[in-house]
Amino acid sequence: MNKAELRDWVCRMPKAELHMHIDGSLEASRMLSLAKKHGVDLPYTSEAEVQNAYDFHDLQSFLDLYYLGASVLRDEEDFYFLMMDYLERCRADNIVHCEIMVEPQTYFPNGVDFDTFMKGFERAIAEANATWGQSVVLILSLLRHTPEDECLAVLEQARPWRHAFTAIGLASSERGHPPEKFERLYAAAKSEGYALTIHAGEEGPAEYIWTSLKSLGVARIDHGVRCTEDDALMDFLAEEKIPLTVCPLSNTRLKVYQTMHEHPVLTLLARGLCVTINSDDPAYFGGYLNANYLALLDTFEPSPQVFVELARNSFQAAFLEDTQRDAFLQTLAKWESAA
Ligand code: ADE
Ligand code: ZN
Repeated sequence: MNKAELRDWVCRMPKAELHMHIDGSLEASRMLSLAKKHGVDLPYTSEAEVQNAYDFHDLQSFLDLYYLGASVLRDEEDFYFLMMDYLERCRADNIVHCEIMVEPQTYFPNGVDFDTFMKGFERAIAEANATWGQSVVLILSLLRHTPEDECLAVLEQARPWRHAFTAIGLASSERGHPPEKFERLYAAAKSEGYALTIHAGEEGPAEYIWTSLKSLGVARIDHGVRCTEDDALMDFLAEEKIPLTVCPLSNTRLKVYQTMHEHPVLTLLARGLCVTINSDDPAYFGGYLNANYLALLDTFEPSPQVFVELARNSFQAAFLEDTQRDAFLQTLAKWESAA
């Protein structure tokens, strides 16, 4: 395969995306039109101005704009189109299964309640499932810059929508908000049968990954790239097959790494860790899932087999029943042998 053929092959490969914040797929054009629709005052007047503002130097500088952007989402139709736009993108990128983070605490300050966003999201998901068989899991993502009691209250408010969420997660500002602050939250979610994931080791230290595993009992780590600072931790993650949902374009845009050449994801894969590739906040970081795979291709020029391994990991790490997981793994194997 020449380079152009390999790019096309990677794009067509069936894959799962496990780490994507739905508000992170809000494109500038839709942000501006919704601001106009709802009379929300944003400090931008054009798409170019929005794009110019996406010059981040760390996680917090991004989060400030991300929460501001999401403040334009107000009614059920807004949430329907936000979800539908992303699911159409899944179809285009051959993301046959996706796991999407929903963050109620971002919407509540604007008077938006659970029913409003969940009805919009569920309508889009049902349509995508009926039209092209899109598989979707939702993750109830709490915000770690808020008090644990507030997160516990959101878990309670989610009760009428319990059927819609498979897992809980924890996102937002990592530094200064260690996992142990949320022990009661994770214990409560576990007792209610949620699967558990958490952002850890993105900007925070490797220690936050250890605590997430030992004190919160999570099954998966979002980002986790700073495990590279601790050999024993990398060995543990490999031995225990704890997946990391890694987001290469996010990490370079938020200056976790200055360049893609420094990114450790393929080194971690070679060391035996179950790493997966994800887009995090694609509208803000310069690309959806296939753009992340292609950034690795362009930077490291790995063999086609590496991409199949990454896609296989994405299904292995998914919050799926084993029969569904096996069906996706078979689809990938068939695709590979036919390719
Ligand atoms: N929320 C959205 N994107 C995030 C990220 N990369 N880290 C933490 N919280 C987030
Ligand atoms: Zn994230």
